Amino acid sequence: MCKLQDFIPADLSINNVRDYLIGLNKKVILLDGTQKQYIYFDNAASTPTFSFIRDIVNEMLEWYSGVHRGAGIKSLVATKAYDDSREIVAKFVNANLEKNVVIYTKNTTEAINKVANRLNLTKDDIVICSLMDHHSNDLPWRKHATLIHSNINEDGTLDLNDLEEKIKRYQNKLKLVAITGAANVTGLINPIHQIAELVHSYKAKILVDAAQLIPHRKIDIKSDDDPQHIDFLVFSAHKMYAPFGTGVLIGPRETFEVGDPDYVGGGTIDLVSENEVFWTHLPDKEEAGTPNLIGAVSLAGAIKMLEKIGMDNVAKHEMELTEYAYNRMNELDSIEFFGPNVFQNYDNKLGVLTFNVKGMYHSLVAAILCYEGGIGVRNGCFCAHPYVIKLLKLSDEDRKKIKNQILSGYRAKIPGAVRASFGIYNTREEVDDFVNVLKMIINKEYKGIYQQNVKDGNFYPENFTIDYKKYFSLT
Ligand SMILES: Cc1ncc(COP(=O)(O)O)c(C=O)c1O
Repeated sequence: MCKLQDFIPADLSINNVRDYLIGLNKKVILLDGTQKQYIYFDNAASTPTFSFIRDIVNEMLEWYSGVHRGAGIKSLVATKAYDDSREIVAKFVNANLEKNVVIYTKNTTEAINKVANRLNLTKDDIVICSLMDHHSNDLPWRKHATLIHSNINEDGTLDLNDLEEKIKRYQNKLKLVAITGAANVTGLINPIHQIAELVHSYKAKILVDAAQLIPHRKIDIKSDDDPQHIDFLVFSAHKMYAPFGTGVLIGPRETFEVGDPDYVGGGTIDLVSENEVFWTHLPDKEEAGTPNLIGAVSLAGAIKMLEKIGMDNVAKHEMELTEYAYNRMNELDSIEFFGPNVFQNYDNKLGVLTFNVKGMYHSLVAAILCYEGGIGVRNGCFCAHPYVIKLLKLSDEDRKKIKNQILSGYRAKIPGAVRASFGIYNTREEVDDFVNVLKMIINKEYKGIYQQNVKDGNFYPENFTIDYKKYFSLT
C-alpha cells in the first residue's frame, strides 16, 4: 500500500466509524473497584485517533527522512508527502493556493500568534475579537495591537449589532476582526461569512479561529474576490482525529511575502552571508526548522477520512446526538445549561453541552463523573474566562473577590461549569449512561467522600489512587 486513499477503509461511514478509532474500548477502574468502558465526552479538547492514521504513520515511518533537505529517494518521498499534504488541506476548505498559503504550525494558538506577529501591528491599530473567544484568539492581539472586545447577548450568542457598531466606530484604525467559528464553551456557531462581508465593507480583514468548527462542519473559505471570503483560517489537527502536533494557518500569500518571518533559522532562507540574509519562498520562509512530517501526513489522512464520511453526515449525527442528550438531561430538573440549546438547523450549534448541577460545584460533578462514572468531561472556565464570567453573570464584586483568591493561590471557588462535547463516534447508549450517572449525582447517591484541594480547585475521592502503571506510565 502506498497511496493515502488505499488506507481509508472502503466501508467507512458515520455508522461504523467507532470501529476505526483507537482506544474506545479502554476500561478504567472505578472507585468501587469495578471496571467500566471509558466514555469520552471531551472531544472539544482533543479527539481520539483514527486507526488507519496509525497505519499511515507506520508506513510513513518506513520512509521517514529529512524534508526539503536531503537528496536521497527517501528524502524526496518525504518531501513530496509533506508538500502534497498542503494541497489536501487547501482543497478541504477551498483555498486557492495561488493567492493563499498553507503554513503548518504546532496548533491553533501558534497559528494565531504567527498572524499577530506578522501583521506589522502597533498599539495604534485596532483588532476586534469577541467576548466568546478562546484566550488563544484574544491574548496574541492584546500583545501586538489595541484589542476591542465585541459583546455577547444575554443568552451567550454573539451580539452582531455591537460588532457592527464597533467596526463602524473604529473603522479608521481597524486592521482585523478575529472571531471564533464556534465557541468552545457553548458550541454556538457564528455567521462567519456574514461577518466577513461586513468586515470587508470596512476594508479590514477577518481571521476565523476554526479550532472548534472544522472537525464538525464543512468550511469553505470562498474565493478571494468574494466579499464573504475568509482571509485567515486557523485550526488544529488534534481536534480532527489526528493528534500528531500539527496546526494550520491559511492566509494571503501577500501578508507573508513581505517582512521577516517571526521565527528564523534553518529552512527559511535562500542565502546567508556573514551580514546578509535572503528569505526563501513561501511557505518554507514561515516554517523555521525541521517540519513535522508525521503531523502533516496524518492531518491529510484525517481530512480524507472526514471527506469519506461526509461533513453533512458528521453534522447530522452530532446534532441529533446533542439534541437527544439535551432532552435527556433536561428530564433532570437540576441541570442549568449555558447558552441556548438550538437544534433547528446545523448552523446554530456544535455538539457541546455546558451545564451546572444546581447547588453543586462544577469540579465535584466532574470528579464524580470521572471516579464513579468512568466518564471524561471538562470543567472550569475552558480557557475563555471573559465569556464564562459573562455567562455566569458574576457581579463586579464577585469578580474582584475571586481574582484576589486566585492570585493568592486559593482556587476553591473558581467559577465555571461542566462541559460534555461529542464527536463523530459517540452514541446514545453513552449519553444514557452519562444521564444515569448525573441522576445518581443529583440524588446524592454517589459513594465517595470527596475532598477539595484548594490549590487546584479539584475534588479527589478519599482512599483512592490511580495506578497509572495499569494504564500507561513512563515511570
Ligand atoms: C475555539 C478555540 N480556539 C483555539 C483553541 C486553541 O487550540 P490549540 O490548543 O490547539 O492551540 C481552542 C482549544 O480548545 C479552541 O477551542
